[in-house]
Amino acid sequence: MDKTKKEGRYQRIYEQLKDLLTKSRNPEARMATIVAVLHHKMEYFFWTGFYMLTDGELIVRTYQGPVACQVLEKNKGVCWAGINRAKTVVVPDVHKFPGHIACDSRSNSEIVVPVFNPEGKVVGVLDVDSTSYAAFDEVDAAWLEKIVALIYA
Ligand code: SME
Repeated sequence: MDKTKKEGRYQRIYEQLKDLLTKSRNPEARMATIVAVLHHKMEYFFWTGFYMLTDGELIVRTYQGPVACQVLEKNKGVCWAGINRAKTVVVPDVHKFPGHIACDSRSNSEIVVPVFNPEGKVVGVLDVDSTSYAAFDEVDAAWLEKIVALIYA
């Protein structure tokens, strides 16, 4: 998707989510709504979901797309890189990312956006996979960071 179209799409999604998320402050409810809206409005999102830190493990939560790994091996792969760096990780070709965990062999690119709780601690990540190579860029990174910030807003 070209950058102008992407910008417009994210702008509309963000406005819609801001409205939808006023109905409950529950973080799990908000994450479920975010995943549903993103997954159905962004046709290049093949897998969309959250992995959250639970007793030191990274465990899958709400998601849409093919069945995924429930637990991610510690300090390995893209999601753990997002946790450990506390920064968004954009991977144009997952096959070139050392330690990448392939939950589904059809995924070719990926973006991971850390989730911060109100105390500023990383508590999990939003993970999106695409079957296209280099599907995600700085436009996705900026908007997905804004969207994830709505969970505890
Ligand atoms: N590829 C991720 C694992 C999660 S799946 O993409 C849904 C990783 O390397 O951490």
